[in-house]
Amino acid sequence: MSTPPEAPFYPMARTPSCPLELPRELREIARTAPVSRVRIWDGSTPWLITGYAEGRAVLADSRASSDQSMPGYTFAAPQAKAFHTRNRSMPTVDDPEHAYLRRMVTADFANRRMEKLRPSFQRTVDELIDAMLAAGAGADLFSTLAVPMSSKAICEILGVHDSEGERFAALGKIMAVPGSSDEVHRQVIEDMRALLGSLVERAKTAPGEGVIGHLVRAGELPDDEIVATALLLMAAGHGATAHMITLGTMALLAHPDQLAELRESEDPAFIANAVEELLRYLSVAHLGRRRVAMDDIEVGGVLIRAGEGIIVATDTANHDPQAFAGDPDELDLHRDARHHLAFGFGIHQCIGQQLSRVLLQVVYGTLYRRIPTLELAIPVEDISYKLVLAIYGVNALPVKW
Ligand code: HEM
Repeated sequence: MSTPPEAPFYPMARTPSCPLELPRELREIARTAPVSRVRIWDGSTPWLITGYAEGRAVLADSRASSDQSMPGYTFAAPQAKAFHTRNRSMPTVDDPEHAYLRRMVTADFANRRMEKLRPSFQRTVDELIDAMLAAGAGADLFSTLAVPMSSKAICEILGVHDSEGERFAALGKIMAVPGSSDEVHRQVIEDMRALLGSLVERAKTAPGEGVIGHLVRAGELPDDEIVATALLLMAAGHGATAHMITLGTMALLAHPDQLAELRESEDPAFIANAVEELLRYLSVAHLGRRRVAMDDIEVGGVLIRAGEGIIVATDTANHDPQAFAGDPDELDLHRDARHHLAFGFGIHQCIGQQLSRVLLQVVYGTLYRRIPTLELAIPVEDISYKLVLAIYGVNALPVKW
């Protein structure tokens, strides 16, 4: 297969002064070609699907495989390749193996169960905001609110007790904050594995609530796979939720009228709608859903051959004017955005989506009301971002009030 020399490099850079906008070059591709070739870090030229209808069709197609051991699978970065080839887990395998692994934890993420966590999330955010206010007139919102909030939520899901919560949160913070070397990252993963291993041991005599206790009670998975499942939930959910809190706050601060409306609102349905729109607008899982064609697939009039790599750019799909009324590049908290692809689509659609929704509704519904004068403490151009990992986010978000 000859490679078109003009295939643009993916991912493209964002404009520093407009960090929440999709890269200009990517938007241009999305405008002209819902399916086209790009070149990625390893020199390969997978297909980039930018359109909403085309992206949804591919994500629902069982011929588009998530199996990372298949030749042609496109990894987002060398680290992702190194990490995942050693781990077969829910997001990296197809049905029926995928369905088997997912079924093990489905009940732990049921909507009703997530709703029951709302009061506890409310307590946590109130305590974190109390601590921020007590400490002074400014803080890093990422490390003082976003990371501990998302750690606490995942601790509750896993069944990690408060006594181990701090150690768990410290490791989680390093996992969510980029900039540490591969060596440090590896060590943190090993420490986290050891901590989760000790929780599995304890659950054998006192299973308790949460994923770890349930998996131990079910007795279907060996200990190391229970640890791997817990680690996956931590890795998959922690950063994304934390970065939605900080980037969501940045987006709202850049739209003061909409922020004021959200702050004043007592309507849970409006707050829930605002969360969906922020999920769509920000699309923090920004480097695309990765797949490989197991068979020839025709999409958007283009034939993708068996063995070719596919990147479904759910961020551009979420800004597709064919799918979202008005101007999808604009934030509009009243938009009906519920059909967005921020949590993916198809069998791998995010298992933690309802957890994240409830948590974000609580945080967005509380933070700006309790700190109405919240503002950025540094110019937007001085904020530093993590660009290379699968979830878009900041390294820190200095704010003041
Ligand atoms: C706002 C927060 C979140 C966002 C934007 C997000 C985004 C996503 C996306 C886009 C996928 C699909 C991946 C694909 O198709 O290749 C996914 C899958 C997944 N997410 Fe999330 N996620 C979030 C929170 C969470 C949380 C809190 C958890 C768990 C505690 C979690 C656990 C998972 C797992 C296990 C999968 C794989 C599901 C499967 O393969 O069946 N996520 N997430």
